[in-house]
Amino acid sequence: MLSSLFRKKSLARAGQAPDTDATTALSRHLGVRDLTAMGIAAIIGAGIFSTIGNASANGGPAVVLLFVFTAVACGFSAMAYAEFASRIPLSGSAYTYSYVVFGELVAWVIGWALIMEYAIGNIAVAISWSDYFTSLLRMIEIPSLNIHGIHLPEYLCMDYLSAYHAYHDNLREFQLGLVKNQAVLDGIAAWQQAPGSGNFKLIMDAPALCIVTLITYLVYRGIRESKKAGNLMVAIKLAVVLLVIIAGGFFVDPGNWSPFAPNGMGGVLKGISAVFFAYIGFDALSTTAEECRDPQRDLPKGMLYSILICTVLYVLIALVLTGMVPYSKLAVGDPLAFAFESVNLRWLSGIISVSAVVAMASVLLVFQLGQPRIWMSMSRDGLLPKKFSTIHPKYRTPSFATVVTGFVVAVPALFLNLTAVTDLCSIGTLFAFVLVCAGVLVLEKREDAPAPRFKIPYANAGIWYPLVFAAVACSLFFTRKEACKDFFLSRKLLAPAEYVANLSPQKSFELLKKCQDENLIPIAFFSHADVLSDWLNSLSYSRQTQVMLYMNGGTEQGLYHSGWEVFRHLIPMWIFLLASIAFLYLSVRYRLSMIPLTGLLSCLYMMSELGISNWIGFSLWVAAGLLIYFSYGYRHSLLSVK
Ligand code: ALA
Repeated sequence: MLSSLFRKKSLARAGQAPDTDATTALSRHLGVRDLTAMGIAAIIGAGIFSTIGNASANGGPAVVLLFVFTAVACGFSAMAYAEFASRIPLSGSAYTYSYVVFGELVAWVIGWALIMEYAIGNIAVAISWSDYFTSLLRMIEIPSLNIHGIHLPEYLCMDYLSAYHAYHDNLREFQLGLVKNQAVLDGIAAWQQAPGSGNFKLIMDAPALCIVTLITYLVYRGIRESKKAGNLMVAIKLAVVLLVIIAGGFFVDPGNWSPFAPNGMGGVLKGISAVFFAYIGFDALSTTAEECRDPQRDLPKGMLYSILICTVLYVLIALVLTGMVPYSKLAVGDPLAFAFESVNLRWLSGIISVSAVVAMASVLLVFQLGQPRIWMSMSRDGLLPKKFSTIHPKYRTPSFATVVTGFVVAVPALFLNLTAVTDLCSIGTLFAFVLVCAGVLVLEKREDAPAPRFKIPYANAGIWYPLVFAAVACSLFFTRKEACKDFFLSRKLLAPAEYVANLSPQKSFELLKKCQDENLIPIAFFSHADVLSDWLNSLSYSRQTQVMLYMNGGTEQGLYHSGWEVFRHLIPMWIFLLASIAFLYLSVRYRLSMIPLTGLLSCLYMMSELGISNWIGFSLWVAAGLLIYFSYGYRHSLLSVK
């Protein structure tokens, strides 16, 4: 039983195109330019038009560093994908690669995780698309026809849960006329106007359903049509992104770049999920291997070119954005349009909103193209019913899988909440990247591996990795000593507001006086509890610890949260730490290649920053996948013992 779970597709078999005849072959239309365009189509979307706002508001201009770090992690992972694609030029992406390297069970898990990337990612993009689209409709002004904005009913533009919470959580304030937040007001209106009774209300995101249906139809009709539509959308969004960079450049006030990292590294790292989401997509190219004219030459180039172009654009956009507007104002859903509105360029802000709608549609297109191709590969291997690999006789596309994808994305997009799906998409994708990088490390050691036409340059991790590890460990020890100590002791410093609120007036007077005498607290803060906690918040973590420790009379008693509640949030970081240590041994023992190893560890690090609730969500998803595997795939696999 155990060995059959790890049965592998032979490299020789996987390295050849599958048995194709007139009824099963996909048509080969894609070259380097198309692939690069498709990569850009998949990458530039909701991330840069929307989620960059919150990331910049938390991290300040230093979010640029996060874009560079994420680009390095994604670039190294892209190289791993590229090497795989050039060794095994088959549809199915990371799923196919892991089938060869790690065996069937891991392949199934990765295929299942990729559904999170493509299908769940597309749910997120469809929901964002709907937000931009409806706000664009509201901007339409045609005085001659007496049209002053087109307003769809709120209950047809949002998910049930958002409306439910907006209404039930804010009813009292609403009745007293105290609610000012527009999103909450929209939610309440949706709940009140929706047909239905009690808690049974018809509330759904209809524009999200429409765009997914339209895109699914396009993908169903054929890769050639999809390619043309994709290229056009890419041209439009590149033009607008360049316009933003050039026009915005004239409004940059370098004063806004200082302070560069107002909330320290902690603030910057809060943006990881959002920034990573902005890069997701280049890997979708590897699902089109059977539709490329020369996949072994073109796929690596397409992936690397698209990631390089997007990195340059992202860094420039982040610099322009944080230079145009003070970072703290950027916590909005449409930061690029907002920046131009705040310098009174409303026409440009309108153009940006239009292009955001186009940009997100093109992301939908590529992901909607990728998902059925993964299912097709899984079905060819017997892990899913045969129907999933049916190719349409006329359009030469995986028709059944495409229609199923349409349903799987469109129906949840009607009802689900954006933040939850974005985070799940990021963690599933990072997991796939980790496995692909690990796969290259393994494949490079196998003698029977097909020769790649693209090979990642080799640097011996047995030498480099211990050096990097030691350098990082030393710098953490010297610059973030308190945070490291808290991590190993599984404890967390009380939030300043929490600590200050717990002080008795007498105690707080004494302590504050002492702090003031020692010049620890500026005189202005003396005896103002809320201002004091704001001031504490603005300090670096180690300085905060030092001051609070002093205020606490030099004792750590009562200054920290601890126990399981704290420890469970540290589990992802422990997993990362233990993996990093394990790779110290492996890199020396097997002289691993440094680039895929760096890709693996940086993606694992980003996963560890995504929070325990996302890890739990992801684990439940994997558990559901395993249930399906054992009840169907295991018995029907082509590799099952005959
Ligand atoms: N990178 C894609 C986007 O930003 C997922 O929408």
